[in-house]
Amino acid sequence: MGIERMPFGKTADGKEVSRFKLTNAAGAYVQIINYGGIITAINLPDREGRLGDVVLGYDSLEEYVQDRNYFGAIIGRTANRTENACFELEGVEYKLGKNEGNNHLHGGVAGFNKALWDAEMVGSKDGESLLLSYLGKDGEEGYPGNLQARVRYTFTDKNELVMEYGAISDRDTVVNLTNHSYFNLSGHQSGSVLGHKLMICGDRFTPIDSALIPSGEIRSVAGTPMDFMELTAIGARIGWDDGQLLHAGGYDHNWILGNGGKVPEKAAEVVDETSGRVLEVFTTKPGIQFYSGNFLDSVLGKEGALYGKRSGFCLETQYFPNSMKHKHFPSPVLKAGEEYRSTTIYRFSVVA
Ligand code: GLA
Repeated sequence: MGIERMPFGKTADGKEVSRFKLTNAAGAYVQIINYGGIITAINLPDREGRLGDVVLGYDSLEEYVQDRNYFGAIIGRTANRTENACFELEGVEYKLGKNEGNNHLHGGVAGFNKALWDAEMVGSKDGESLLLSYLGKDGEEGYPGNLQARVRYTFTDKNELVMEYGAISDRDTVVNLTNHSYFNLSGHQSGSVLGHKLMICGDRFTPIDSALIPSGEIRSVAGTPMDFMELTAIGARIGWDDGQLLHAGGYDHNWILGNGGKVPEKAAEVVDETSGRVLEVFTTKPGIQFYSGNFLDSVLGKEGALYGKRSGFCLETQYFPNSMKHKHFPSPVLKAGEEYRSTTIYRFSVVA
């Protein structure tokens, strides 16, 4: 039980990176590195009690430095896409780094996923937690304000990975932090996730254009392949001749959650009948991006595993993408001196 710290190589400028192993009373464990705050492994029992690692990742720091898939990482200062890589805040236009065509994706070229975070182990009501902190500088990737960001990871004895995000800025800014883990509940090396069953607690989504950017429309999921109100196999409708699926080559959309935003409420559930493992996601955030790993293409991962298209899925809790453009979307603006707070929980269990 508790947290162990081990070396995990050095960055190009010689800074030591650590890997933290968070083990709970049930013997399950999570591994996190302070480079990018990346979750590198989540080892959980299947229905027979056998431990298996359910997140995609790499064996070495060098591979995480090179990675373009955001495996396991904290995403900041803002998750997902900002159209034309610019936004207006109080009459001033801010230009962000362009790293996907003309657009800004997942915090830019040097987002929070490529930063070395300070790490400390701290006590919490559920035992020990790993607290990571990073100062995003005023002007970094074009964002205004020095932003002190924190993420606290706790792995409880009930197999819940709790992620508490906090941030404070000295100027008005925008913040939308998330985690970009790719799950395969059969085990990271198990191939396609199309047989996993998914439920999303949202009856509306934000349709995208051909650059995968929400147009501002809010649409009901009823009668569309976006309807995951009841557990449905990820692959059941992914091949449909549907404009939204064709834009993204599968699922890569934001669902609107009906939560109150104060305490974490259920956002999604995934059941893998092969292993019996279940993932439930709870969050205070207003939206969740379900991404079906459409861009994965023969990525050489941990323990020699080869990750092909759709061999992992992401459930990224977030403010809606491109929300600075659409004033009817919940606002990601953080006022100077105010505190940004959000919580997301990945709760794991098994079914018979
Ligand atoms: C997010 C995006 C996807 C893709 C992945 C990273 O989930 O929505 O379109 O960019 O990140 O490959």
